[in-house]
Amino acid sequence: MSKNFNINNKGNLTGEYPLYFGEDLGIFDSFNIPYPEIREADQNQRALFWTSDEIDFTQDYKDMQTVTDDEKELMVRALSFQMAADSIASGSIQQLFLPIASNPYLKGLISYHGDAEYVHEDTYGRIIAQCFDDPSEMIERIKKDEDVIRRLGGILYAFKDHMDMVYNIEDYTLPEKRKTCLRTLVSLLGLEGIMFLASFASTFALCESTSKFDGIAKAVGLINNDEAISHVDNIVVQLNIIRNKEKWPEWDNDEIKKILDTFVEQELDWADNLFNGISGVVGFNSTLLKRFVLLLAKNVYDRIGIQFDFEVVEESPFPWLKNYVSPDMLQTANQESQSANYIAKGFVNDVPDDLEFEFEVE
Ligand SMILES: [Fe+2]
Ligand SMILES: [Fe+2]
Repeated sequence: MSKNFNINNKGNLTGEYPLYFGEDLGIFDSFNIPYPEIREADQNQRALFWTSDEIDFTQDYKDMQTVTDDEKELMVRALSFQMAADSIASGSIQQLFLPIASNPYLKGLISYHGDAEYVHEDTYGRIIAQCFDDPSEMIERIKKDEDVIRRLGGILYAFKDHMDMVYNIEDYTLPEKRKTCLRTLVSLLGLEGIMFLASFASTFALCESTSKFDGIAKAVGLINNDEAISHVDNIVVQLNIIRNKEKWPEWDNDEIKKILDTFVEQELDWADNLFNGISGVVGFNSTLLKRFVLLLAKNVYDRIGIQFDFEVVEESPFPWLKNYVSPDMLQTANQESQSANYIAKGFVNDVPDDLEFEFEVE
């Protein structure tokens, strides 16, 4: 476990602030910046600031009463995964990475990333509280949802392993620490860059086909921007420093590819099962969703230089998706649609998405 404050840190003299496992941090140093890209990524994520109480879900509650049972079930399935996954992210990111960070600006980046995840979980909490007659029943359903638990199993396993390392850091060699950290970063990239974005597509598809759930569409659009733009960036920047600048000998293309491949296979499997027992919605089915997963995945692999051996999808199967996060779409009159015009950047259309469910951080 790192010291909270290391008065003897020599980074200001040596100029060296490795991302992880260096000297414990002391007095903040803003003139030695070995990795300006970390500071830039942190500034970019902070520019997307928003709060969970900016959107009202009163109309969404009414919409929930008027959609078909299958449409409601699809919304519930998407929200269940998103709520569970963001609860894990919010409860873990700072605890996982802050104790081992040894770069001042990385500390800021991790802190804000974790704060944004809190805004996300709080937003889902507000959706559930305002759109369901019995919010607690919805939480109980999430806790028992085997599909959600299975889908998040890989990320929970990696996070648990990482926390064991954080709390028993003296027992680990540097190569073991680095391997564990790399596995967690790559798993988090799979969650942020593939799983979340694929799940958001199902929410937007439902909003598109029903022309309802305006508030949920806006809220999930803001969350989508955070995940797709800043959170993916936060991790990609770190991984590329580890690979190209710090040149960790533990970087292993095959191992990283194996982790990401598992995420892709799992998401393809999820796409097959998403509509179990319910009908699809117009313009959105398992085949199209799988193509979208492949499109998202290729982007993630490319950004950290890992070979992509799945089918390459050139165009988004959901051309309407950009409507949900593009500022153009949001210039609707305020009385018709809640304004969220401050969204800084739209979703890039060519982007190209015996474990216990309780993840406890001791
Ligand atoms: Fe999130
Ligand atoms: Fe995130």
